Amino acid sequence: MKIAIDGPAGAGKSTVARALAQRLGFVHLDSGALYRALAWVALREGVDLGSGADLAHLLATCRLAPLPDGVSVEGVALGEALKTPQVDAAVSQVAWHPAVRSEMVRIQRQWGEGRDLVADGRDIGTVVWPEAEVKIFLTATLAARAERRAAEQPGLDLAQVEEEIARRDEKDSARSVGPLRVADGARLVDTTALTVEEVVDRLVELVRPKP
Ligand code: C5P
Repeated sequence: MKIAIDGPAGAGKSTVARALAQRLGFVHLDSGALYRALAWVALREGVDLGSGADLAHLLATCRLAPLPDGVSVEGVALGEALKTPQVDAAVSQVAWHPAVRSEMVRIQRQWGEGRDLVADGRDIGTVVWPEAEVKIFLTATLAARAERRAAEQPGLDLAQVEEEIARRDEKDSARSVGPLRVADGARLVDTTALTVEEVVDRLVELVRPKP
């Protein structure tokens, strides 16, 4: 079974997807971590973020692989390094390139083959698994999303976080391949006034409705 959770930056997708996967005994695929990992290697290697061909070559050679709940590059699991402002600023540019996206979609489908999973991202219900049994579009107001991101990374300026999130959403929504949009058949869940527990409870109810 596949559960697709898409939505804008900071809506709580990864936190909720991880918790939902745990509740259901499924694995969690954090697709944002894949794009972040490629951005991270590209920054490290000084690869031109404007070149889809160079990024696709890097993706083909850096041994990027999903892990349950994370990602590894060259056999090493990456964690907090993926959440820096530098990666935040670069990732949508990396994710914009059709050559990068098609390979990322292939990697995700291959990894998900035969697995029950909860995947979160921008194009899971529209492109990666349009046949997913349950599709959710998780959203919240821009202010709430910025506050959550700022709480995760103390020391960041709230207004700057808000600006960065809005800029990323705009770039993610405007691209021609795999743009952020609500998938056909997706249920909209606004998390602005909900705790993580409350959101997860709702999603469990959508996946396994009480008789
Ligand atoms: O979900 P997260 O904020 O970690 O995603 C980081 C970025 O990766 C997004 O802003 C987007 O540019 C890209 N992304 C994507 N498609 C996905 C998941 C993430 O383009 N399925």
